[in-house]
Amino acid sequence: MPTPRTSVAFDVDAVRAAFPALQQTVYDELPLIYLDNAATAQKPRVVLDRMAHYYAVENSNIHRGVHFLSQQATDAYEQARQTVARFINAAHTHEVIFTRGTTEAINLIASSYGKTQVSAGDELVVSALEHHSNLVPWQMLCEEVGATLRIIPIHDDGSLDLDAYRSLLSERTKLVAVNHISNALGTINPIAQIIADAHALEIPVLIDGAQAAPHAKIDVRALDADFYCFSSHKMFGPTGIGVLYGKEAWLNALPPYQGGGDMIEQVSFERSTYDSLPHKFEAGTPHIAGGLGLAAAIDFMESLGHDAIEAHEREVLAYATERIGNIEGVRLIGTAPQKASVVSFLVGDIHPYDAGTILDRLGIAVRTGHHCAQPLMDRLGIPGTVRASFALYNTRNDVDALADGILKVKQLFA
Ligand code: ALA
Repeated sequence: MPTPRTSVAFDVDAVRAAFPALQQTVYDELPLIYLDNAATAQKPRVVLDRMAHYYAVENSNIHRGVHFLSQQATDAYEQARQTVARFINAAHTHEVIFTRGTTEAINLIASSYGKTQVSAGDELVVSALEHHSNLVPWQMLCEEVGATLRIIPIHDDGSLDLDAYRSLLSERTKLVAVNHISNALGTINPIAQIIADAHALEIPVLIDGAQAAPHAKIDVRALDADFYCFSSHKMFGPTGIGVLYGKEAWLNALPPYQGGGDMIEQVSFERSTYDSLPHKFEAGTPHIAGGLGLAAAIDFMESLGHDAIEAHEREVLAYATERIGNIEGVRLIGTAPQKASVVSFLVGDIHPYDAGTILDRLGIAVRTGHHCAQPLMDRLGIPGTVRASFALYNTRNDVDALADGILKVKQLFA
């Protein structure tokens, strides 16, 4: 069935023109077809310019200086926090904690929540779809305190088995931690339902939103998420900065993650008291330019409009699913009814790495392998996949180039 085209309101050519990296050629003057957005997205010029402006003109440390530049940088950084709070509809700006990324945000909760709320005999629930960053920190915590990790199984299409999920919840469960969108398969998880089910038993929920932030409207209050984590670099901002959203009551109740400057109230040789939120969780000089770049990325996305972005991406995903899925010998991995911006596949029995290498020599950037989700690949009984992951600047032409590339892969291995 032909897929409907998005409205002319979303001018993808104009969007592409905003990204310098997309204008380049690779190898022998091949146009770059960038389909590795789940790993990291390209950056629009407004993000690059905002960061360069900070370093060129505003460079100074924040929350410390009485001087003009420091106050200006502090105001800009705290304004960036407000932009993030608005983006996710947090009730309070101080519920936004800047971290190095999703991984650090999850490790923060595994440490601060884990040390105080989880003990021997307790259980934590994650899903079979998790990225290692939402699995390994919980394994480490379980090992440390003697708790057990329970895994929500998946159906063969890559959707979560919600009945099995509900049966895992009990008075022993101290936290549910699941991703919003799977990085390896693109499954959109029913997190509102997952949160409601957990809350019915007064179990808090952490959502790994790393793959959702570039694609979906996030409303932490409507979701009633206790913790929601995401990274700037997957949503067109710089690397090295991300966000932990936490409900005020939880963040006030939990101890700091790291000690150092900027997170204290009073320090003596005997003891220290800690600053209020959000500073309690932000020790040391942060990635100031990163915060400003992230806010610029959010402004950029909001200038395009969430609905328009989602409609465009839905169309490209539907086209890619049909076009790639119809190639003889291609097996799509992950066919859940609700999906976002990922087509994972195998080409016959060709190893994903070989297929990815040939696609690369055609100028097509994809990721191959287990996608930092080894247990998921084990569950699916495959070594890995070729993964094409799309962003707001990808087009049907990109999908056509990928389809042609897959035909060349097949020819070479025939
Ligand atoms: N989490 C990133 C990916 O899926 C690195 O590629």
